[in-house]
Amino acid sequence: MKVSGQHFRTIWLYPANERVVQLIDQRFLPHRFVIEEVNTVAQMATAIREMHVRGAGLIGATAGYGIYLATIEAAESPAVAGFDRHLANAAAQLKATRPTAVNLTWAIERQLTSIAKGKTAQEKIDLALRTAKDIAAEDEEHCRMIGQHGLNLLEQIARTKNGKPVNVLTHCNAGWLAFVDYGSALAPVYAAYDCGLPIHVWVDETRPRSQGSKLTAWELGQHGVPHTIIADSAGGHLMQRGAVDLVIVGSDRTTCTGDVANKIGTYLKALAAQDNKIPFYVALPSSSFDWTIRDGSEIPIEERGAEELKRADGWRNGRMLEVSIAPESSPAANYGFDITPRRLVTGLITERGVCKADEKSILELFPEHAS
Ligand code: MRU
Repeated sequence: MKVSGQHFRTIWLYPANERVVQLIDQRFLPHRFVIEEVNTVAQMATAIREMHVRGAGLIGATAGYGIYLATIEAAESPAVAGFDRHLANAAAQLKATRPTAVNLTWAIERQLTSIAKGKTAQEKIDLALRTAKDIAAEDEEHCRMIGQHGLNLLEQIARTKNGKPVNVLTHCNAGWLAFVDYGSALAPVYAAYDCGLPIHVWVDETRPRSQGSKLTAWELGQHGVPHTIIADSAGGHLMQRGAVDLVIVGSDRTTCTGDVANKIGTYLKALAAQDNKIPFYVALPSSSFDWTIRDGSEIPIEERGAEELKRADGWRNGRMLEVSIAPESSPAANYGFDITPRRLVTGLITERGVCKADEKSILELFPEHAS
């Protein structure tokens, strides 16, 4: 998508040296556009854990490139027999960075299966490079397709609005910054905007890290999409007033039965949407399904540091400032995600089409995962 009119993806290989991965360091948005260069597994693990990159699809693509860097490191290590050990350690290090988004493990396992087919170190590096590129390219294409399928839904609603804008409410950031390009929840919004459909997005601020006000608002603004930032608790009020036509959120992990893990606060939006008879859609590429889990309660929920709740950061006089916003002595619990049960989900928007959030409908779209 666009940054100051120029096309960017969130992660790519440095064209002059494919041993260097470049990524947008999202910690500085919306104030500064910073590109980080990464060439070790340790740096890649830090980038995921400290959320220089975040969002399910992008975490997966980053891990894919991280394993590619691991093969280079493994081949350069003096102990030739240590190649497999180095790779296994790197995989474990990357897997430990963030627990909820299933794309992380999915991408690492896909890399390890692919690399195992190589006989020499060079073959393994080549396979890892190709797989990392494939993971990123598929993520981009799947999100583009999600945009097309979601566009049909938005067009249906637009027909009932007599030319007034379709009002979408979204939570957190499931835009192109959370993937390689296009996004999941925001892909239909971009597709609609690009074909001239009047559209407006209510952007939940998404405390404590403010992915909504910092990232979603920024990327919508870069594309020219009308939007309004709201406090996390405002969605229910807007729904009661008829100001929301539908909710579209992303997902970090969805069970094969349709329970959805997404950024903390999503469940409350789903409850409010049901009470107000507003459609609640979840957009996700198939890489965010966990085919091994049947119930949302089995999904590990990330708990992050209390300082994210007790402090806020912002931009002043050209630099980032952090301030305390809670009593230093009060404990704080920082749950990163919650589970929205399938009964509250109107539908799932995937790269293969829209389906109900139940096992039968999901497996009709993805029959290769039926056991
Ligand atoms: O903690 P984050 O920023 O990595 O959380 C991920 C998210 O942005 C959201 O949960 C999103 O809605 C789903 S990931 C596309």
